[in-house]
Amino acid sequence: MGTAVRVRGLRKQYGDTVAVNDVSFEVGKGEILGLLGPNGSGKTTTVECVLGLRRADRGEIEIFGADPRREPAKVRRLVGSQLQDSALPDRIKVWEALRLFSSLSPHGPPWELLLDEWGLRSRRTTAFGDLSGGQRQRLFVALALVNDPRVVILDEMTTGLDPAARRVAWELVEAVRERGTAVLLVTHFMDEAARLCDRVVVLTAGRVVAAGTPAELVAAQTRSSTVRFTARDPDDLDYLRQVAGVARVQRSRDRVEVTGSGPLAARVAHALVSHGEEPLDLRIELPSLEDAYLTLTGTTAGHLDAARRG
Ligand SMILES: Nc1ncnc2c1ncn2[C@@H]1O[C@H](COP(=O)(O)OP(=O)(O)OP(=O)(O)O)[C@@H](O)[C@H]1O
Ligand SMILES: [Mg+2]
Repeated sequence: MGTAVRVRGLRKQYGDTVAVNDVSFEVGKGEILGLLGPNGSGKTTTVECVLGLRRADRGEIEIFGADPRREPAKVRRLVGSQLQDSALPDRIKVWEALRLFSSLSPHGPPWELLLDEWGLRSRRTTAFGDLSGGQRQRLFVALALVNDPRVVILDEMTTGLDPAARRVAWELVEAVRERGTAVLLVTHFMDEAARLCDRVVVLTAGRVVAAGTPAELVAAQTRSSTVRFTARDPDDLDYLRQVAGVARVQRSRDRVEVTGSGPLAARVAHALVSHGEEPLDLRIELPSLEDAYLTLTGTTAGHLDAARRG
C-alpha cells in the first residue's frame, strides 16, 4: 500500500499541559485513518503538527518522506486541509476564495467543479461572512481539495452539516480515497468513523489508547451482545440460563432480553426452537463502534471531570 504519513513519538506541550504524549501512527495511500478521542485529547494539536503549523517538542513526522517543518513548501503541495478553526475574510465571496486557492495550485481540478461537488453553486457570489455554518464547512472542505492533494486532513469535516450534506461529504471523501489519496479524518461521529475509516486511532489525554480497524476495536472492547424477542410462553424460559455464553435473562411481560457472549444469537435460537418457542421477532443487537469507544475513553472523560471541577 505504501505509507503517506508517518508519525513517530510525537509530543507537544503547552505550558504545563501535555496535549500530545508519544503518539505514533501511519496513514497509507488510499487509506482513511480516523483520529478519535474526547474534547481536549490532542487531535487538533496532532494534525496541526502534521501540517507543520505547530512545532512538536519531540518525535518525527514525515509526509511522503518530507518533514513539515524543514520542507514546508513540499508539504504544502502534497497536503490539503480543512482545519477546525478555519477562517476567511468576511467579505471574500465563495467563488473568489475558490479561485484564489486554486490559482496557487495550478495542477488541481477546476474550481468550478468543486463548487458543484460541494453544493455551493447557488452561493457562489455570497460573501463568506454571510454563509451559514454548514456552508462555510463545505467551502473549507472544497478548499482542502483544490490542490488535488495526495494527503487530505479533515478536522471535524461534518460538524454542522445537515444530514444530506453529511452523506454527500462521505461519498466525496470515499471518492478521494479511491484516487489513492491518504485521508486523516478527525471526527466525533462514530457512525462516520465506522462508515469511512479503514483504521482508527483513539486518543485520550494525548495518548493512543487503541488502534485498529473499527471491527477490531469493537471485538476487543465489547464482549457482550444482546438478543431480544417476544416469547409465546414467557414463564418457561429457565432453560435459556443453561445455554453456553448466556450471562443474563431479563423479562418484562412477554418481552425477553438475553445478554451474553460468543455466538449468542445462534445458541439462543437453537435452544428456543428445540423448546417449541419460535419467535418471529428474534433480533440481535451487536455492539457498535460507539460502545467500544465509550468503553475505551471511559464514561467520565477527563474533560467532563474538568468541567465539574471548574
Ligand atoms: N494554543 C494552545 N495553548 C494552550 N493550550 C492549548 C492550545 N491548544 C490546545 N491546547 C490544549 O491542548 C489540549 C489538546 O487540545 P486539542 O485542541 O488538540 O484537542 P482536540 O482533541 O482537538 O479537542 P476537540 O475535540 O475539542 O477539538 C487541550 O487540553 C487544550 O486545552
Ligand atoms: Mg480539535
